[in-house]
Amino acid sequence: MTQVTLETISNLAKKRGFVFQSSEIYGGIRSAYDYGPLGVELLRNVKEQWWRSLVQQRDDVVGLDSAIIQARAVWRASGHEEVFTDPMVECRNCNTRHRLDKLEDPEQCPSCGKRGTFTEPRQFNLMFKTHMGPVEDEDNLVYLRPETAQGIFINFENVRRSNRMKLPFGIAQIGKSFRNEITPGQFVFRTREFEQMEMEFFCRPEEADEWFNYWVEHRFSWYTDLGIDPDKLRLRPHDADELSHYSAGTSDIEFLFPWGWDELEGIANRTDYDLKQHTEHSGEDLRYFDQETNERFFPYVIEPAAGATRTTFAFLIDAYTEEEVNEETRVVLRLDPRLAPYKAAVLPLSKKPELIEPAEKIATELRRKWMIEVDTTQSIGRRYRRQDEIGTPYCVTVDFDTLEDHAVTVRDRDSMAQERVSTDRLLEYLSGLLDR
Ligand code: GAP
Repeated sequence: MTQVTLETISNLAKKRGFVFQSSEIYGGIRSAYDYGPLGVELLRNVKEQWWRSLVQQRDDVVGLDSAIIQARAVWRASGHEEVFTDPMVECRNCNTRHRLDKLEDPEQCPSCGKRGTFTEPRQFNLMFKTHMGPVEDEDNLVYLRPETAQGIFINFENVRRSNRMKLPFGIAQIGKSFRNEITPGQFVFRTREFEQMEMEFFCRPEEADEWFNYWVEHRFSWYTDLGIDPDKLRLRPHDADELSHYSAGTSDIEFLFPWGWDELEGIANRTDYDLKQHTEHSGEDLRYFDQETNERFFPYVIEPAAGATRTTFAFLIDAYTEEEVNEETRVVLRLDPRLAPYKAAVLPLSKKPELIEPAEKIATELRRKWMIEVDTTQSIGRRYRRQDEIGTPYCVTVDFDTLEDHAVTVRDRDSMAQERVSTDRLLEYLSGLLDR
């Protein structure tokens, strides 16, 4: 197992165009990041795989894309305005702020090392505030959503009615969330702007435990099926004192990050808390009517809530491998091909037009299905190394023999094995390897 440090991953991410610091040319803004040409593909592929698994391949879950800005009343009803807070202390010596519940020693400042210098803890609300319209007063105050989930709860009845949904059913959503974290950090692990992938699964209250177990298992397998080393994943049930205000039980899926075990995703039993709160605050009856039993009741909700950006980071860390090849270190991102930014790279052996032309033609054909890169720079060995480092599963080399035999060499990223494949069979050959 390659031991990867945070520095190695953040350097690779910047060098190869996965992730850049936001507003970098102005000195950088802490805790927001921009996804470069490769990062945006990786992130899109992660979200695509989540959507396939939770929406496309099921008949009991549908999708939603709700607004980031919602009425302030939503956040009053959900409880976020009152209790979505973290305990914050400030060091009187060096003026740094810290989350009290995350300190190793609650008496010692981790920035300056002094003891007994903290102020009394105060509860800090994590929601970003802004104003709707030109007048900046209390009446126009709105929040950027700190979770995508509330957009689902407030649309529960719209979705149920318009799509004739019957229990049990789920509503899934991927989108940006914002939290004014006290201590963002560890690269893209904890940021103030991030992306979530959440699904609210509505079921009969008596079936909630069964569905909870089902979704924990389902979500755990999603990570291992996409190649995360099972030894780097574990389940951790929350203690009673760390449960969110809405949860009757939560289990986290944790990943072994370079700094230790930390959360990737939480699966919570939110009970009927949210639908009840919104019914009470909005006056709309969000109970479900069961036509067979003539009963009206509040469904329970099981919620698998993952971070898209955090999960993408975990895939990057897990895939990073260093190995010795011919007394040189080869860096390989062993990403599952479904997640790899480029599925193949087409590499003409020389820059001569007679090779560039067929290479471009092959790339155009393959682009009907996949993201493809054509690379004409540097020696072939260096180009292979670059593709290994960005996780491209297959390299297609066009050489002078191609002009005679109408075949190309396909090189496998992981085994480095090479095979000669006729150009007219190439799309079919790669489909056999890539389509799942
Ligand atoms: N709706 C429930 C909810 O939001 P959460 O555990 O607070 O639960 C779910 O968030 C997931 O969102 C986390 O497991 C994590 O992957 C991601 N997430 C939360 N805060 C984040 C942050 N500041 N930066 C990056 N990802 C974050």
